[in-house]
Amino acid sequence: MTKKARALFDLSGKVCLVTGANRGLGRAIAIGLAEAGGDVVLACRTKDSGEAVAREIEAQGCRALVVPCDIGRWADLERLVNQAYEAFGHCDVLVNNAGITHDPLPLTNVDEAMFDRFFQVNTKGPMHLATLVAQRMAKHGGGSIVNVITFGAIKPGGYLSMYCSSKAAMRSLSRSMAEEWAPRAFASTRLRPGRS
Ligand SMILES: NC(=O)c1ccc[n+]([C@@H]2O[C@H](COP(=O)([O-])OP(=O)(O)OC[C@H]3O[C@@H](n4cnc5c(N)ncnc54)[C@H](OP(=O)(O)O)[C@@H]3O)[C@@H](O)[C@H]2O)c1
Repeated sequence: MTKKARALFDLSGKVCLVTGANRGLGRAIAIGLAEAGGDVVLACRTKDSGEAVAREIEAQGCRALVVPCDIGRWADLERLVNQAYEAFGHCDVLVNNAGITHDPLPLTNVDEAMFDRFFQVNTKGPMHLATLVAQRMAKHGGGSIVNVITFGAIKPGGYLSMYCSSKAAMRSLSRSMAEEWAPRAFASTRLRPGRS
């Protein structure tokens, strides 16, 4: 990263919480945030799976904390947020990255357990985590929440119904979050919605 880009994206002193940070996009996001100077809370299903990423982050001079957590379990999310705040005192960036997808499957083969699991992990969990963190962010002067969805949430196709519909619900919730929470962040600036 150039010096100018680093100044634009400097996260020194910021704490970032990334779900599904042990592999895939989540791992890349966590390392990228640390490259920008941020300390990172890595929410992973198992502690061991996140430790290697934590070592990479620490090698860059940033702090890392691995918290085992199933995104589909609200009690896990409450413990995750408590541990993050106990360790770092604040959270400035939340990346709701963890998610599940499925192989192509006709709608007629979707059973109740599958429907529930997709909405539990891709929708309910990320929504609950965002609400827990947003309330605390508001007390500490604000922050940023990134919900990772997918193009299929906007333009769903056949045979990926559970993935697309659960992500579409998350897209809708992201809009609600922005409508409800952004005005608080912009309350004292010229960017306030409805003002030119
Ligand atoms: N890759 C793409 O092309 C693409 C495109 C559009 C959107 N996305 C979205 O981007 C995000 C990351 O995608 P990816 O390709 O990096 O996926 P991935 O390689 O399959 O990784 C998914 C991550 O989510 C975690 N995870 C799944 N269920 C979880 C649960 N119940 N609790 C906690 N963690 C859980 C996984 O943990 P484990 O290691 O324990 O399984 C893993 O860390 C997803 O939300 C996905 O829908 C990806």
